[in-house]
Amino acid sequence: MTKAIYPGSFDPVTLGHLDIIRRASNVVDHLIVGVLNNQSKRPMFTVKERVEMLKKVTEDIPNIEVLSFSGLLVDFAHQTNAQVIVRGLRAITDFEYELLMSQTNRKIAADVDTVFFTTKLDYAYLSSSTVKEVAAFGGDISQFVTPYIEQRMKEKLNR
Ligand code: COA
Repeated sequence: MTKAIYPGSFDPVTLGHLDIIRRASNVVDHLIVGVLNNQSKRPMFTVKERVEMLKKVTEDIPNIEVLSFSGLLVDFAHQTNAQVIVRGLRAITDFEYELLMSQTNRKIAADVDTVFFTTKLDYAYLSSSTVKEVAAFGGDISQFVTPYIEQRMKEKLNR
């Protein structure tokens, strides 16, 4: 059974992330979406909220599990018996960072491999920070996130 982890901050989950989640879930038996409890970022949503939001937007995908983690990604992979890490590549600028990260992870844990999906062109420009910025200034984010996430962001921003 192929078990993979798609890790990230998901603050919030965007349509770009969802595209990767759907495509990855089609090629592995079980996909864990791993929400990083990242102390170095100041998130809009708590880890608990992000897990809850991811569960909601992926509820129609049967082979998905959403979990939070802290510490090293490869330790989380070992704890969950995942052999594969899934990452999305949006543009060439993502490549250098992702290459270093996958090589570092392989150095620490040779039994865990990274597989890359190229992000759908429609979402190649997208990031969670951009979505938050547009929302903070009252812009339309309906092209970037699902209606449920849009609603959660409005509630957070008291709109
Ligand atoms: N669609 C839309 N946006 C995307 C995207 C896609 N397909 N792929 C990435 N992004 C965006 C994210 O929204 C995020 O935007 P933001 O910076 O505005 O929030 C940005 O790209 C990158 O974020 P993300 O993919 O969430 O990664 P990250 O850098 O926050 O975390 C981890 C990456 C979790 C894989 C990494 O930090 C990690 O493994 N941490 C654990 C510690 C560890 O093991 N370190 C050693 C590894 S060398």
